[in-house]
Amino acid sequence: MENVFQKRLERHHDELRWLYMELYQNDDMFAELCSQMYEYYTQRAQQLKTMDKAREEEPGWYKKNDILGMMMYIDNYAGNLKGVEEKLDYLEECQVNYIHLMPFLDTPKGRSDGGYAVSDFRNVQPALGTMEDLESLTQACHKKGMNVCMDFVMNHTSEDHEWAVRARRGEGEYMSRYFFFSDHSIPAEYEKTVPQVFPTTAPGNFTWLQEAGHFVMTTFYPYQWDLNYRNPRVFNEMVYNFLFLANKGIDVMRIDAVPYIWKELGTSCRNLPQVHTIVRMMRMICEIVCPGVLLLGEVVMEPEKVVPYFGTVEKPECHMLYNVTTMASTWHTVATRDIRLLKLQMDIVGGLPKEYVFLNYLRCHDDIGWGLDYQWLMQFGIGEVSHKKYLNDFLTGTIPESFGRGELYNSDPSSGDARLCGTTASLCGIEKAAYEKNEPALEQAVQLDLMLHAYMLTQSGIPVIYSGDEIGQENDYTYHKDPDRWGDSRYLHRGKFRWDLEEKRAEKGTVQEKLFHGIGKLEQIRKENPVFNTDADVWTFDTLDDSVLGIIRRCKEQKLAALFNFSEYQKVVQLEQEGETYTDLISGKKITGREVNIAAYGVYWLLKD
Ligand code: GLC
Repeated sequence: MENVFQKRLERHHDELRWLYMELYQNDDMFAELCSQMYEYYTQRAQQLKTMDKAREEEPGWYKKNDILGMMMYIDNYAGNLKGVEEKLDYLEECQVNYIHLMPFLDTPKGRSDGGYAVSDFRNVQPALGTMEDLESLTQACHKKGMNVCMDFVMNHTSEDHEWAVRARRGEGEYMSRYFFFSDHSIPAEYEKTVPQVFPTTAPGNFTWLQEAGHFVMTTFYPYQWDLNYRNPRVFNEMVYNFLFLANKGIDVMRIDAVPYIWKELGTSCRNLPQVHTIVRMMRMICEIVCPGVLLLGEVVMEPEKVVPYFGTVEKPECHMLYNVTTMASTWHTVATRDIRLLKLQMDIVGGLPKEYVFLNYLRCHDDIGWGLDYQWLMQFGIGEVSHKKYLNDFLTGTIPESFGRGELYNSDPSSGDARLCGTTASLCGIEKAAYEKNEPALEQAVQLDLMLHAYMLTQSGIPVIYSGDEIGQENDYTYHKDPDRWGDSRYLHRGKFRWDLEEKRAEKGTVQEKLFHGIGKLEQIRKENPVFNTDADVWTFDTLDDSVLGIIRRCKEQKLAALFNFSEYQKVVQLEQEGETYTDLISGKKITGREVNIAAYGVYWLLKD
């Protein structure tokens, strides 16, 4: 056995074996896992092994201020994988060096959940290309110093996956890879404690299979069958799929819907301790076979549930997690113009160990779920149901003076709950103002959009732009007429990339020009100034105005005071300390004295002189 692999295995063997045995008590399957890990290690390309080694030597490589991400649908952006490879130059112009390719593995048309129902983990959707195209793209990216992220959808497979097809036929071996029940008694017990992910688009957690005479567990859509990780065959095979994909040159694996992977009757089937055992095992397996690969956990939950997925400093789980509460709180702040909740959220994140790397974003392919701290909001008499209604009303433009142009997602009249869809530009008012040809409103909407990007870029971690946001792409309403999509309003913000608008970024005074260059300038400043490093100290301060958020970042010699005005009014606010002078990194303006005048939706990045 090769020395490097052996050494890495030795480092983790006892813990890995301990955890595996705790879950599965199966020596043979553990032995098989180890020998397969070696197989995948030997198959791993030499360039990837070289990269692994470099990253092992510099484990903090992804923790600086020089990574900027963008997430995109391959077909929307460039038709197919080859198209993306041809269009890498544009991404470089966007200063992007991390691309998240939305799901591209084989999936049945019309029953794909945007690609999150995988029918073959080892094949690319024919319309998007082949595995060779993927390898060619990752190689081209690596040459340009770009990282590639993909989704590893591990909670479920499509009902068209070979295992599911065979399970449906009644093959016991395959039925045991899912959750099959011959009558509704046990599913009914589960339903008492398991919440719903898609209460209106896919109600319930089980689906009746007529021809199999069984119920199968389907937490998401009925065509997404939950995998049974109590079966070691499922764990092992999914790990092999993971390593197969990692060997195609993937740098970041987004482990989709990870809190859901372990089910236990009488529980919510979310975040159970066994989930952490599995993620910890995956981390060790990565460190043994492909240590250059990062795990990005998709945990769309409240902060207390998210943070444990980092594991501990000695026994880490995910390398990175989505900063979902900050994202949702940001849109709450846009709708309320009251920064107090966001300030609290910034303080919570700022108080976490700096080893934790968050992925920061304004919008992604999914809806905005209003997971806010309602207990805290209650002190102001703000109740959960009425507040969600307000946020949705504001951001869908139902309130007459509001500028948002979103749409509801999974609106559940019985609970009064609903989530929200829409692109950043449409939620910021660009769509409305452009449609109404209202120049001053358009100006203000662009300013809000820029301010939000500046806010995202101020946070520690990895900022990820949603493709199209850099040119202010608006909602795409064509999904309303598409029979495969009309029921899922997330397609509102999953439109084709508008290359026709992209061209306008060269035209002075266009929305595209203002956003592209405005955001580009912010990104440039961010990577040039060490004060944006992940290891900076970050805290908030009181600006004496509840519409203006004040954040301090301090790293070594540099100190930055950032101000964000979330209101449509010009404000005079106070800086944290007296007697300091600053230069605004964005405008170059000098600021002396403690009081600062900040424009409507204005932003300052004040570097202490
Ligand atoms: C994740 C994806 C979402 C998908 C779900 C089910 O939450 O982000 O788009 O619907 O997983 O796989």
